[in-house]
Amino acid sequence: MTAGAAGGAVALREMRWWDIDAVLGLEAELFPEDAWSAGMFWSELAGARGPRRSRAYLVAEREGGGLAGYGGLGAAGGTGDVMTLGVTRAYQGTGLGARLLAALLDAAAGFGCHEVLLEVRMDNERAQRLYTRFGFRPVGIRRGYYQPGGQDALVMRLELPPGGREGHRGSPPEGGGERHRERHREHRRERHKESGRE
Ligand SMILES: CC(C)(COP(=O)(O)OP(=O)(O)OC[C@H]1O[C@@H](n2cnc3c(N)ncnc32)[C@H](O)[C@@H]1OP(=O)(O)O)[C@@H](O)C(=O)NCCC(=O)NCCS
Repeated sequence: MTAGAAGGAVALREMRWWDIDAVLGLEAELFPEDAWSAGMFWSELAGARGPRRSRAYLVAEREGGGLAGYGGLGAAGGTGDVMTLGVTRAYQGTGLGARLLAALLDAAAGFGCHEVLLEVRMDNERAQRLYTRFGFRPVGIRRGYYQPGGQDALVMRLELPPGGREGHRGSPPEGGGERHRERHREHRRERHKESGRE
């Protein structure tokens, strides 16, 4: 556990279905315009278990109970995608976003990914700084990506070294998560059209 500025210690663990209600509460706080639905989290978590799992979803749990943040990654065809990342305001600036992102990158290495992509709003400078610190670099812009607002997304990419980030500290997934990349990306585009999320 690591202490957060907001008080208690915070531990990362796998997100489970019984966390969804609490995560939806954070969604409403952090993404008021385009919060994911419960169904979207259920669908993501369905891919996070079993021999063909291709998702890693984490929550950051406060010592006394309650969530301080969460994040999710999808993997297919050797490419990881940061699907979502959020830290509740009381814990922002405490390094929790960095801890969650580091854990997602370890999960990507565990899935055998050689690169990780993400989309982030063009105007979300704080998140972009975090990603840049981790070595993500801009590789493109998706115009009008976020609906219904029509904001543009910056696409960022991180190349993972063979063997993973810093020698890969994550544990390998059971079985891999090798789905066809295009199929995965199409799925992600559809989800984002629905949700407008990076
Ligand atoms: C983007 C987000 C996930 C970052 O999470 P975070 O916990 O604030 O991230 P960190 O604390 O690791 O880093 C943020 C800043 O705090 C600073 N920081 C890190 N550890 C710190 C500490 N112990 N004490 C003080 N500051 C610290 C970092 O230097 C960083 O500064 P910078 O923004 O000037 O680079 C969070 O702000 C968030 O949830 N935002 C709303 C939702 C969102 O935009 N999600 C991203 C979608 S792509």
